[in-house]
Amino acid sequence: MSMIKIQKLIHDYIKRDDEGNVAGTVRAISGVDLDVQPGQFIAVLGHNGSGKSTLAKHLNALLFPTEGTVWVDGMDTKDSAHLWEIRREAGMVFQNPDNQIIAQVVEEDVGFGPENIGVPTEEIWKRVEESLAAVGMLEHRKKSPNRLSGGQKQRVSIAGVIAMEPKCIILDEPTAMLDPNGRKEVIKAAMKLNREKGITVILITHYMEEAIDADRIFVMDQGEVAMQGTPREIFSQVERMKELQLDVPQVTLLAHELRKAGLDLPASILTKEELVDALLGCETGQSTEVAEKQKSTAATEEQKNSAATGEQKSTAANRQVQAGEEAGHGNQG
Ligand SMILES: Nc1ncnc2c1ncn2[C@@H]1O[C@H](COP(=O)(O)OP(=O)(O)OP(=O)(O)O)[C@@H](O)[C@H]1O
Ligand SMILES: [Mg+2]
Repeated sequence: MSMIKIQKLIHDYIKRDDEGNVAGTVRAISGVDLDVQPGQFIAVLGHNGSGKSTLAKHLNALLFPTEGTVWVDGMDTKDSAHLWEIRREAGMVFQNPDNQIIAQVVEEDVGFGPENIGVPTEEIWKRVEESLAAVGMLEHRKKSPNRLSGGQKQRVSIAGVIAMEPKCIILDEPTAMLDPNGRKEVIKAAMKLNREKGITVILITHYMEEAIDADRIFVMDQGEVAMQGTPREIFSQVERMKELQLDVPQVTLLAHELRKAGLDLPASILTKEELVDALLGCETGQSTEVAEKQKSTAATEEQKNSAATGEQKSTAANRQVQAGEEAGHGNQG
């Protein structure tokens, strides 16, 4: 069974005038079909106002369909009998950690959710410990949230969601207010929960780099799913992404520019290492496929020699990538 299944979803917000009379509607979601399997790590991209947050709120039964149906773990969100079960199974993490932490002490904050649904005390403490450990925050359990960095606070928010033992977590731009280190901490924590605990993760983000390791990406545009596929399938379409007012990861963009300048590089480069390998292939006048095939053939003396100089080339190529990244720094979001 799908973790999340969405069929022909439409969401209209009602606009009201100053007196509170209905003045019209805004269509935020316009016929979305979507399927997420248990254990997947999904990234949702899309420029401002494309409907990402509206979609996220449907997954947690904070909003209900104007038309169409949303099922979470087989439960129709419109079925009020399942409301609390849905909200427990699909936990939400929002942008601002300061709005999500309520208690004066970290461990109390994480225990708040389970306590609220009547989990026995002993079990609460067990969950608090496990959840804080899962996001690498156990050593801070006695601290006041005020003394934590943004990334740490956000990890406490995630621990609070995990303590409810959800099957799925939906993170709506959880890193938008964080510095680069905080961003990495939070993404690492989410990835770990996905890989080690099998929790389905739906990550909404404006940072393309955060989507590289996703199993699947959905790109929203004007309330519709404009593109979907693996990170490689999505990010290789640089021009299409530009049309949707989106970037691609810096390394992918650099590779794209080099291709346009005439280098024979594959369209789907996502990491620094891939670019370095591809550039090495180029320098010897080989396409990467050819280079790949050559690896499997017996190494001749000549190849051994070129392998010896390969290390220098690799460093040069690495520096090139580094320079590209630094040049692009600050262009994100
Ligand atoms: N409460 C609301 N009332 C009326 N219109 C709304 C409301 N919330 C969002 N909208 C509109 O719905 C559309 C989708 O908004 P949504 O917040 O889902 O986009 P988003 O992709 O999350 O954007 P962002 O990247 O800025 O977070 C936008 O046109 C927005 O103005
Ligand atoms: Mg949003």
